[in-house]
Amino acid sequence: MKDKKNILEDHKKTIKIIKKHNKSYFINDNPIISDSEYDKIKYKALELEKKYPFLKRYESVKDIVGAKPLNKFKKVKHLSPMLSLSNAFNLKDMEDFKKKINKFLSLKDNQVELFCEPKIDGISATLIYQNGNLTKGLSRGDGEIGEDILENLKTIKEIPKKIIAKNVPNLLEIRCEVYIGKKDFSTLKNNFANPRNAAGGTLRQKNSHETSKIPLKYFAYGFGAISPMIFKTQSEFLTIIEGWNFLVNPLSEKIDSLERVEKKQLEIDQLRATLDYDIDGLVYKVNDLSLQKRLGNTSNSPRWAIAYKFSAEKAITKIKDISIQVGRTGALTPVAKVESVTVGGVVVSNATLHNEEEIIRKDIRVGDYVTIQRAGDVIPQVVSVDKNKRLRNSKKFIFPKTCLCGFETTKEINLNTKKIDAVRRCSRGYECKYIAKEKLKHFVSKDAFNIDGLGKKVIDQFWDLNLIRYPCDIFNLNYKKIERLDGWGLQSVNNVKKAIDKSSTIILDKFIYGLGVRHIGQENAKILASFFGSVTEFTKLFDVKNRKMILINLVDLDGIGETQIKSIDKFFSNETNSKIIKDLINKINIKNHTSQTKKGKFSNKKLMFTGGFKNMSRSEAKVIAENNGGKVLGSISKKLDYLVVGDTKPTKRKVNQAKELNIKIILEKDWNKILNS
Ligand code: IVH
Repeated sequence: MKDKKNILEDHKKTIKIIKKHNKSYFINDNPIISDSEYDKIKYKALELEKKYPFLKRYESVKDIVGAKPLNKFKKVKHLSPMLSLSNAFNLKDMEDFKKKINKFLSLKDNQVELFCEPKIDGISATLIYQNGNLTKGLSRGDGEIGEDILENLKTIKEIPKKIIAKNVPNLLEIRCEVYIGKKDFSTLKNNFANPRNAAGGTLRQKNSHETSKIPLKYFAYGFGAISPMIFKTQSEFLTIIEGWNFLVNPLSEKIDSLERVEKKQLEIDQLRATLDYDIDGLVYKVNDLSLQKRLGNTSNSPRWAIAYKFSAEKAITKIKDISIQVGRTGALTPVAKVESVTVGGVVVSNATLHNEEEIIRKDIRVGDYVTIQRAGDVIPQVVSVDKNKRLRNSKKFIFPKTCLCGFETTKEINLNTKKIDAVRRCSRGYECKYIAKEKLKHFVSKDAFNIDGLGKKVIDQFWDLNLIRYPCDIFNLNYKKIERLDGWGLQSVNNVKKAIDKSSTIILDKFIYGLGVRHIGQENAKILASFFGSVTEFTKLFDVKNRKMILINLVDLDGIGETQIKSIDKFFSNETNSKIIKDLINKINIKNHTSQTKKGKFSNKKLMFTGGFKNMSRSEAKVIAENNGGKVLGSISKKLDYLVVGDTKPTKRKVNQAKELNIKIILEKDWNKILNS
């Protein structure tokens, strides 16, 4: 057995680690490890204190002020996912948002009314009422699965526990944002860097009595599941629920033009400092709920809403050094190491300089005083240099022409603009140690294989110890060796093992996303998964002949363009990639894409569209077909069941091909009849 002194030394180290993580969580709002990893460390320390009570005489984990509560809430699947919002940063983005909506709905300008609300910078929660009684209260979690925080939400006195009114839907899910008022925050004695972090920490308190001591507030802004549906517009919804005693934000209003959008943005931005709650922009929503329904969602965010962010918060600081980071796509990103400065409540010590061209254009040098900005979750950026403050002997920054791995880098020609790319890249993929590590980090990340406990630091550690090189190594780890490593014990090894085992059964779209093919994000991975259906079909991409044929078909998929196709081609013609993926596939179980085979008018049918429609865009027609159980193909083949022909400029060749293959043709008028039947 270790002697007392050793035990104490170890314990002191653990306390130091917990404090470090508290700082990154509370102060920097930038946790370095996952909640469960944190919990494990804390739990172990608490157990040790129980076993050796003498430890508490020095410092107890329980006494670390404001230590994060243990993450032990019950996980509950949301009735309908809690999505994110896409962002607009200027009026042009807002104009594009309106255009996209009109295009999707096949409507003319100004036919769609928008409703504008402040975007409260708090913590989102959802309240579920059954027959008017508050029965569940969940945090957002990962959007699919939340945590049961009902008892904590109940401590907010203004949240109705029972709705006393006529016509309340039997099932009503109210989405809201919980916050702490700025004034209340300033009088609170706590460790948190800003009201948002404090609200998050308070809601996650295990003991709701503790939560009740903090004056949490909320605004209701939307609904999730609802039955029966009784609302027609967003504005009507808010007015009605206000009548049911929910708190809604008073600055919301209908907006009829882009000019008004511009004015409203300025008005509220000026008002911002006087409000008792933090807001980071305005949310614009299509007011008509039936149009919202038609527009639907992409994988992460609704098509019918956007967050128009206020300009970022800025601060001035000095560049201490410029270092180069290599990303998983091989991009060399220069990062300015700056003297720590607080921007919008968060301490910043790194800011991105984007790429080589940006450094040359702005002539940014080590030692310069620069303005940096930080907006929302975006990485802080260097915006401008104060050249007056520059020392005479300062030297231009010479951007390295080689990667950190020592090999040559190149600048590609952008397919769209035909110009030389601003980004310098290493193109060695897994052959480059730096890219490989980033690829592995992407592979284990939340939206890909989601391996809890295999964070960035652990990937670095395992890499350095030669435990992993490629994704398949993760499923072949030497656990005996890991158990003997500093900071690892039987319990943590078992947890990681469990997480890895769990992730070894994965659905096709997450698998595709995890491969990290350039330009294939989550949304495109879903499109590809739905196209291929199974990993067997997907791996046909390895074969040159098959690949060329498949790529021709991919052109017609919504969301997949020339850039994506070139990237897929390049990725799959690389032999290392091919070997790595084949090895991986042998180790795991990839579930077929169950294209949420919705039951409906086109269940198990394959459709293709040609020509334009009067009442809807092609995109909407495709979404309708999919929502009715159909699968939309991009090319004519015997597999096709229907060719839907819009009245406006259908491609004759496609119609003739379909006729030759005896494929049923649905004309626009029949299409409309089917939809209305
Ligand atoms: S509408 C995405 N309206 O912003 C589904 N969200 O980035 C529709 N938020 O998780 C969201 N104020 O917690 C909406 N007036 C508002 C909001 C708001 C704050 C938060 C919300 C959501 C996040 C999306």
